[in-house]
Amino acid sequence: MARTCLAVVLAAGDATRMKSSKSKVLHSVGNLPLIAHVTRAAATAGVNKVALVVGRDADLVTEAASAGLDVPVSPVLQTERKGTGHAVLMARDIITEGFDDVVVLYGDAPLINPESLVAATSERAKGADVVVLGFRAADPTGYGRLLERDGELVAIREHKEASPEELAVDFCNGGIITFSGSKAVGLLESIGNDNAKGEYYLTDIVEIARSRGLKCIAIEAPEEDMMGCNTRAELAEIEQVWQTRARHAAMLSGVSMIDPSSVFLSHDTVLESDVMIEPNVWFGPGVKVGPGAVIHAFSHLEGADIGANATIGPFARLRPGAELAEKVKVGNFCEIKKARIGVGAKVNHLSYIGDAVVGAGANIGAGTITCNYDGQNKHLTEIGAGAFIGSNSSLVAPIKIGDGAYVGSGSVVTMDVPDDALAIARARQETKPGRAQRLRDKIAAIKALKKKA
Ligand code: UD1
Ligand code: MG
Repeated sequence: MARTCLAVVLAAGDATRMKSSKSKVLHSVGNLPLIAHVTRAAATAGVNKVALVVGRDADLVTEAASAGLDVPVSPVLQTERKGTGHAVLMARDIITEGFDDVVVLYGDAPLINPESLVAATSERAKGADVVVLGFRAADPTGYGRLLERDGELVAIREHKEASPEELAVDFCNGGIITFSGSKAVGLLESIGNDNAKGEYYLTDIVEIARSRGLKCIAIEAPEEDMMGCNTRAELAEIEQVWQTRARHAAMLSGVSMIDPSSVFLSHDTVLESDVMIEPNVWFGPGVKVGPGAVIHAFSHLEGADIGANATIGPFARLRPGAELAEKVKVGNFCEIKKARIGVGAKVNHLSYIGDAVVGAGANIGAGTITCNYDGQNKHLTEIGAGAFIGSNSSLVAPIKIGDGAYVGSGSVVTMDVPDDALAIARARQETKPGRAQRLRDKIAAIKALKKKA
């Protein structure tokens, strides 16, 4: 029989050090809120339910925690912050629904590896009543110290309560504690607040469990996995770790990056094999890149679906709704928004294509602009397959350029152009023989007069 597990995620912190108008756990890493990283890791580890202990921005935090999750999330409010032990007890009614295991996670520690959670529950299955995830701290200041004897955990001592010998211990509490679901409430209710901070310390659960003859152990995880976020500087450090991991995973899956450290990925970036990414590329949320596509340097992409063997940039901007079929080329200083571009079509230089459908093989000349907005509404531009739009043309939407049609350079096109027609919508050229020389003579004469005067 599979074990059942409840994750209690603590997210009621007030986060003063973030100096932010929103809850800390709503700040993002890889364009995903911290809290969502945590609940997703819990879901990946196989938990059956999440009890979310919220304070500030309760609704927004709950929404972020549950978006796209196939595990139910039940928010519980902690109105007063009285410590981690108190916070977990806010979920008492959910804990008593009956789970084999309860795992406590922090909403501001997004780098947790689901495998560590699985390792903890398998120790529970083997007979430990309380399993604490620890790490060897480069600088243990401020952390609870894990005190072990004969392979068992005997206590977690908070920094402020620790003796000098205990302070010398570098094995620290990462904050993730897994314990028996049936014994949880009994243990949690025994936690008091007679300590340096006057708080209910969840960490007291170890000594309480020991006093009842229960077995407690600590298992080790990398320090990096336990990184928590208290300031924006720490948020940036966590982002770095997350990006490094995401780039590494992409490269191992067959993506080439010349300078990975300058490529920024989002949590949902999909890069197929043989994608090649040049330096300084930003992937916002919702980007998919098909096999063999090349993303040249300095491109900014979000909400875009890029087909196989397409080439993008350098200096391209793809905005939400850009759907590029295979072998499409979008060149330098082009912006594509909410537009479908057909197989092999080219938008090579200095263009804006928005609210548009472009047929296969069409060629959009340099400086073409779809005039999609009239100040009130957005309108559609349709460009047929194989059409040719001459440079510096404005296509005033709503408008339809037929298959195989040709628009002369510099046109301002306001009426539909049928299939295979040629449209020229610009002033006719006037050429005045000799007029340039006469103009120069005149200017020279004026200059000469001024000099004399
Ligand atoms: C806690 C641990 C410490 C561990 C460290 C790891 C306790 C008593 N101490 O200390 O052993 O080494 O984490 O980072 O557990 N929270 C609430 N409501 C509360 C209190 C806290 O939601 O009433 C949340 C916070 O927002 C935070 C998490 O719980 O996400 C941990 O609280 P924090 O105050 O940071 O605990 P530490 O003192 O760092
Ligand atoms: Mg902390």
